Amino acid sequence: MALSKSPYRGPRDFFPKEMRLRNYIFQKMAQVSETFAYEPYDGPLLEEVELYLAKSGEELITDQIYSFIDRGDRKVAIRPEMTPTVARMVAQIHREVAKPLRWYAIPNLMRYEKPQKGRLREFWQYNADIFGAAEYGEVEIIQLAVSIMKSFGATQDHFEILLNDRRLVDFVFVKLISLESEANKKLYKLVDRKNKMDPAKFSAEVRLITTEERQAQIFEEYVSITTVKELEGFVKKHLNLAEKIDFLLDEPASAHHEAISLSIKPLFDLFKRLEHLGLSSFVKFDPSIVRGLDYYTGVVFEIFDKHPENRRAIAGGGAYANLLQIFNELPLGGVGFGMGEVPLKDFLEAHKLMPDFTKPDFDVLVAYTHLSSEPSGFQIADALRSLGLKTEVIFGESKPKKVYGQTEKKNYHTVILLNENEVQVKHLKSQVSTSYQLNEAFKIAHEVKGQL
Ligand code: HAM
Repeated sequence: MALSKSPYRGPRDFFPKEMRLRNYIFQKMAQVSETFAYEPYDGPLLEEVELYLAKSGEELITDQIYSFIDRGDRKVAIRPEMTPTVARMVAQIHREVAKPLRWYAIPNLMRYEKPQKGRLREFWQYNADIFGAAEYGEVEIIQLAVSIMKSFGATQDHFEILLNDRRLVDFVFVKLISLESEANKKLYKLVDRKNKMDPAKFSAEVRLITTEERQAQIFEEYVSITTVKELEGFVKKHLNLAEKIDFLLDEPASAHHEAISLSIKPLFDLFKRLEHLGLSSFVKFDPSIVRGLDYYTGVVFEIFDKHPENRRAIAGGGAYANLLQIFNELPLGGVGFGMGEVPLKDFLEAHKLMPDFTKPDFDVLVAYTHLSSEPSGFQIADALRSLGLKTEVIFGESKPKKVYGQTEKKNYHTVILLNENEVQVKHLKSQVSTSYQLNEAFKIAHEVKGQL
């Protein structure tokens, strides 16, 4: 039986056309990261499963991880995410290096997901993380995320960043709704699925988790909040506060002071800082953003596509205060996000922001009509390459018509055609041709380069 030519379900073959597109995306991500002084790092493709069991969350471990026993009886996994790896690496060196640490990577990851639009089994995920930056980390990471999106030509009309804070969610679920820890976990999972659920079903499931109607009502009130202002009103109402929250924080310690300063204030402060950076139009409070990974402890966010047919997350991230503790290390807070190239590509295509990569961008095509000028043709090609120009040579004798026919398929800038006695250099855009001697390789190369 003949073997299948298709790859295994979920991973992809990247033909040159797809590679051009992928390289474009990765180069932009890397360029923007470097302008924020983030340094590249990488880690291994395989990790011990234990690393993910510690804090990555149930869905990733039970349903999505690719794991196997190696020949030495160790249970290993193909990395489904990068955050545990980066935390493990930072745990090795953080005592000796100056903080904050700013790192980025674009690893390939594997998750056993149902392949669908925006989600595959093998994908590349840009990761940026900052460690040891206190509450400034969140601001910078969101600023970086916006800059990456803008580098692709995206604006606030195309995407939005939905923000929440797990400290606030815990405050609402535990303090205001008075949920026990099991019910709290269930409600987290339910909120995470809210936008994919029918409202009546959602409402019924809320009532299966809560025991009193009062609890279900506070919860429903919470999930219907759409702005920071409404959130302030909600908190004030349930804490019976007459004052503005800001005002209260300047007062000496009150009964509510601690709850507010630890659980609610950080998110309000973040919105204020983002406003000072002129980023308010990109960010929005969203009570249903809680994120599925267990290690997040503070601000959480997702970048959402605003295209009506493409409403899905392009990126997700948040702050994690305790991840280094799984390695018995001192607490060192980190914050970061991951952005998949699959949903990003869908996003750029939906908004017509993707450049055309159907043809390769080469510089020069060299051909000769007589074998006697082949050595000169090769010398010219060499001279062009030594100046960094992408040069293709057509082997064997060519007819001029056929040579010019080829220029349709690839984006050449110049065609160089040699006959027995001379070299014709044609600049395609201006259609200007210049003649040279067969032995003028370097002169030709420098003049062609000068026209780029
Ligand atoms: P995540 O939400 O699991 O977070 O993934 C982040 C992004 O990776 C998603 O928004 C999506 O763009 C992409 N992604 C996830 N699964 C797939 C898939 N099956 N196919 C294609 N793309 C996918 C994390 O992984 C966190 N570790 C991110 C992070 C970094 N948090 C802090 N630092």
